[in-house]
Amino acid sequence: MKFIVCKNYDEVMTEAAAIVAGVVREKPDCILGLATGSTPLGMYDRLVAEYEAGKLDFSRVSSFNLDEYYPISPDNDQSYRYFMNTNLFNRINIDKANTRVPNGSAADPEQECKDYEAAIDASAGVDIQVLGIGQNGHIAFNEPEDKLYAYTHLTGLTENTIKANSRFFENESDVPRQALTMGMASIMKARKIILLATGAAKCEAVKELLSDRITTAVPASLLKLHPDVTVICDEAAYNCN
Ligand code: GLP
Repeated sequence: MKFIVCKNYDEVMTEAAAIVAGVVREKPDCILGLATGSTPLGMYDRLVAEYEAGKLDFSRVSSFNLDEYYPISPDNDQSYRYFMNTNLFNRINIDKANTRVPNGSAADPEQECKDYEAAIDASAGVDIQVLGIGQNGHIAFNEPEDKLYAYTHLTGLTENTIKANSRFFENESDVPRQALTMGMASIMKARKIILLATGAAKCEAVKELLSDRITTAVPASLLKLHPDVTVICDEAAYNCN
C-alpha cells in the first residue's frame, strides 16, 4: 500500500483526477470502478472540466459502481444512480448504457447481486477502482464485522454509517437500512485501486491503514493484500491530533 499525502482536499482531488484521467488516456476503452460519497465529488468536477476542455474522451469508457442503497428507486435523488448521473455521467460523453450501478429497486436483490458479480466477471475487468472510506473503515458498504463477504451482496448498514449518511437525507429515519454492495473480493479484482481520504474524521481509519494490521474490524485494511493500492489523503486525515 502506497501513500500520497497532500496538503488539503483540493490537492487530493487534483491528484486523483490526474490518475484516473491517465488511465482513460492510456486505455480509451477502460473500465472505471466508481464510488459515491462526498469525497470524490471534487475529482468528478475535475474530470468533467477536462472533458469540457476537450482533453478527455469517455465515449468508449464503461463503469461499475460499488454500491447502492436498498430499497431505493434509481430516480430518488438520494440513490447512488442519481448521484452518479448528476455528478458525472450526465456531464461527460460516457454512454449511460455502459455504466452499471446495482439496481436498488430489483425485486430479487439476491439475484441482482449475482447478476452484478457475473457482469463484473464477464467484463474485461476494472482497470482502476476509486474508493472512499467510512469513518469506521468501511469501504463500499462492507461494514466492520467478524466475517466479511467476498462478492456482491445485500447487507445492513451500521448505526455509525446511517448517522454519517443521514446528512444527505431530510431525517435519519429516511436513510435506507440496507444496501447492495460489491464484496471485498469484487473490489480487489480491480487491477489498480486508489483510496481517497480527507478530513480529520477519517484519520482513525487512515491510521489503521498505516499500521501493519489486517482485520475485518477495519474492512479497508484488507486492501493491504492487493498489490496496487494507493491511498491519497490530506494532512488532516494522515496526522491524527
Ligand atoms: C458511503 C459509501 C462509501 C463511502 C463512504 C464515505 O457509506 N457507501 O462508498 O466511501 O460513504 O463517504 P464520504 O466520502 O461522504 O465521507
